[in-house]
Amino acid sequence: MRPSQHPDWNSIFGWCVKFEADYLYEIARSVTGNIVEIGTYQGRSMVAIGLGCLESGAHLYTVDHYLGSPEHRTPPAKEVVVQNQFKFGLMRHVTVLEGDSQVVVPTIEASFDMAYIDGTHSYRAVFDDFLVCWKKLTSHANILFHDAYKGGWTEVEDAVKQIAMRWPMEQVNVAGSIVHFRKMT
Ligand SMILES: C[S@@+](CC[C@H](N)C(=O)[O-])C[C@H]1O[C@@H](n2cnc3c(N)ncnc32)[C@H](O)[C@@H]1O
Repeated sequence: MRPSQHPDWNSIFGWCVKFEADYLYEIARSVTGNIVEIGTYQGRSMVAIGLGCLESGAHLYTVDHYLGSPEHRTPPAKEVVVQNQFKFGLMRHVTVLEGDSQVVVPTIEASFDMAYIDGTHSYRAVFDDFLVCWKKLTSHANILFHDAYKGGWTEVEDAVKQIAMRWPMEQVNVAGSIVHFRKMT
């Protein structure tokens, strides 16, 4: 079921709007391997991607250090994420990982058909999160950045523009603030 049609999805607090959630769901539904998400917060995008995994059989690894980002007044709580994982029936399709993305992502014993980057919104952090995922992407994998288009997050937008110029990726689409690329190698 699309997140926008799910009776409970919109009650999860977070920043992923319905249109973006449905887009993430569709991409997750189109892949059969593994997916990584950096920036779980309370699981709003995690559940959107997870609902896609329920249909495709893909598996999502979602990573958060649960310290929050500078723009948050209150950090997220892992208990809420785990509650959402159960509530939406995602136990077998989602692995909730705690820790810094730079430490945790390299330890995941999988390569990824899709990466969704929504961690710290600084230029350096977006670059670092991209690099740590890039090393583990499969050929023609999907790479999606939240807040990378017309959301006022200029550091995210600048980092994504630089990345797109310097790494072999083609832009596939823009969905809300999400910019979606495909790896060209
Ligand atoms: C914008 S929120 C994610 C929102 C979420 N994707 C949603 O749809 O609601 C960013 C999250 O990234 C986490 N975060 C920031 N930097 C991180 C890092 N280096 N490693 C792991 N998590 C990080 C924060 O704790 C925060 O929960």
